[in-house]
Amino acid sequence: MIYSVAIDGPSGSGKSTIADRLAKRLGLVHIDTGAMYRAVTLLALEKGIDPKNEVKVDALLDDCVIELTVEGKVFLNGEDVTTKIRSNEVSDAVSYVSTYKQVREFLVAKQREMSKSLSVVMDGRDIGTVVLPNADVKIYQVASVEKRAERRFKENTEKGLSTSYEDCLNNLKKRDLIDSSRAISPLRPASDSIIIDTSDLSIDEVVSECEKIIAEQLKEKNIK
Ligand code: DC
Repeated sequence: MIYSVAIDGPSGSGKSTIADRLAKRLGLVHIDTGAMYRAVTLLALEKGIDPKNEVKVDALLDDCVIELTVEGKVFLNGEDVTTKIRSNEVSDAVSYVSTYKQVREFLVAKQREMSKSLSVVMDGRDIGTVVLPNADVKIYQVASVEKRAERRFKENTEKGLSTSYEDCLNNLKKRDLIDSSRAISPLRPASDSIIIDTSDLSIDEVVSECEKIIAEQLKEKNIK
């Protein structure tokens, strides 16, 4: 039987890493919805369009084909943009692009379509509330902003990027504010989601906690 797992939470809470591990362990397809907002943002930047110009960004959607592969690659109009969408430029601009109504409607329709015929684990900000309100399992991951900044700083250092801890902290605080205060689909837990605080947990511990929750919920709903 097909089932869906929604994982939401703020930037840097580790959703994508966890969703990816769960997908591999449980044989689910991982849909990283943040990557889709990043792809639209990259398209705007590459076309020389100001990401703060909603009308011009909306106009790009007619020529925007995004594909996610099971290997975790992201294609934009046929080009592999898996690495490019993680640049600082895209990270800085994506919070604006993801507030636009037409962009959200376009991507939400795609996300729903992708989950129609496959068992998925989908991560984002509005999966349990808007994209898949009937998801079989809803998990909301939180972690203190200081812990998330520490993780981001460590990741950047490992990648050879020279950002300070303070830069990471300020960037996450700014993104939290934009994501949770926007008018459309603000970041918040669905009323029926299970909240996990990952501040003091390792990746393995979060994965096994999620697996436990998924198994319990599927059993309760008699999904085999
Ligand atoms: O998860 P991420 O950092 O790759 O997400 C990039 C941006 O996209 C982030 O600023 C929030 C936004 N986003 C969103 O608004 N809704 C989603 N379902 C996923 C991401």
